[in-house]
Amino acid sequence: MRITVIGCGYLGAVHAACMAELGHEVLGIDVDQAKVDALAAGRAPFFEPGLPELLRSASATGRLRFTTDMSQAADYDAHFIAVGTPQKKGEFAADLSYVDAAVTSLVPHLKPGALVIGKSTVPVGTARRLAGIVEAGAPDAGLAWNPEFLREGFAVEDTLRPDRLVYGVPEGEAGERAKAVLDEIYAVALSNGTPLVVTGYETAELVKVSANAFLATKISFINAIAEVADVTGADVTKIADAIGYDDRIGRKFLNAGLGFGGGCLPKDIRAFQARAGELGADQALTFLREVDEINQRRRVRAVDLTREILDGTLRGKKVAVLGLAFKPNSDDIRDSPALDVAVQLRAQGARVIAYDPEAIVNAKRQHPELDYASSVEEAATDADAVVVLTEWKQFRELDPAAFGELVGAKNILDGRNCLDPEAWRAAGWQYRALGRP
Ligand code: UDX
Repeated sequence: MRITVIGCGYLGAVHAACMAELGHEVLGIDVDQAKVDALAAGRAPFFEPGLPELLRSASATGRLRFTTDMSQAADYDAHFIAVGTPQKKGEFAADLSYVDAAVTSLVPHLKPGALVIGKSTVPVGTARRLAGIVEAGAPDAGLAWNPEFLREGFAVEDTLRPDRLVYGVPEGEAGERAKAVLDEIYAVALSNGTPLVVTGYETAELVKVSANAFLATKISFINAIAEVADVTGADVTKIADAIGYDDRIGRKFLNAGLGFGGGCLPKDIRAFQARAGELGADQALTFLREVDEINQRRRVRAVDLTREILDGTLRGKKVAVLGLAFKPNSDDIRDSPALDVAVQLRAQGARVIAYDPEAIVNAKRQHPELDYASSVEEAATDADAVVVLTEWKQFRELDPAAFGELVGAKNILDGRNCLDPEAWRAAGWQYRALGRP
């Protein structure tokens, strides 16, 4: 298939490279010339394992190109909309201006029979509205909604081998035509037995936000249990293990700690509440406000615990912050719990020295006031406390004995329940965690 991908950010760049890898002829379109140049040269503008290799190998086949020129879309059959839908400033709702701009600038170039395929996470009702715009400007073209479920750090794998495909298509013959195009695009995944759900626009839009709302709820559920564990001396990690053996519950996404961040879960649960409110179903999702609040409380708790291990005051204490990204294997600091805690610790008087294997460049841009180290060792030297806020492998594998030689005082907060308390205590550390005695 001849495919364009409009919006070459996180989702679009990965999607474009993977579609080319699957044998399609792909044109990535973005308004940002610098991004287009980087991608064309095989450089990913963000950290994503496997992506640079894929960009280079796909470009070498000649099947992957990038441009800022929307008129080039005229030669292509299918057009993925992969632009961002960030949270609006000062409100919960999603900002749809990028999606609207992408579709309206594409429509004049659509050839008869072309299919526009939405990938961005949007409030329910958006696809039907955009279908109207497509129909008005290009009556022989169609629109489908095909949400993605990729996780940062595993984005290439999730796109090449998705765990399910969802097509939101219009009713009748137009729907049949859209399905046929999508089946051709995803022929490899379908032939490997990937489950497929074919449905209407609204259901497809809701699948995506429901999945993210569920994941966020699962994390906040276990974090709420961690709060109760904290006041009872119970161990939330053991609770998660034990309830996780029940396969109706499952152990995944039951890691208690600092909670969720990133470019998706926080803004998606807020946009979902805002949309439900607009539709008169706000009561249905009031629990998501609580999910958000539990999540925010984890950050406060981490700061409080750090103060506690420093005998009641952060003022003038040197705190080594390990981890700034919202999760490991990512350089993304959007709504990062780790970065938030680092900033709070500093605001409350601590001398914060932060280290992250990938996220320092991004963190520095947003928070130049923090001090950054170029290694774990440099951050930890003479520290009064070490706080682990993102569970990078490198931190999980620290040797408590050797590491203890560097610090000023052996105090550690395990913000992600990713260390072995017994090993750290045996090496003479005061070990604290969220939801663990
Ligand atoms: C998420 C969804 O998983 C993905 O399907 C969707 O397409 C986009 O949003 P992502 O933002 O990459 O993906 O991160 P994810 O791996 O889901 O983690 C989200 C946050 O939850 C991270 O901050 C992570 O640290 C946290 N988390 C995850 C927990 O605190 N505990 C867990 O058990 C799992």
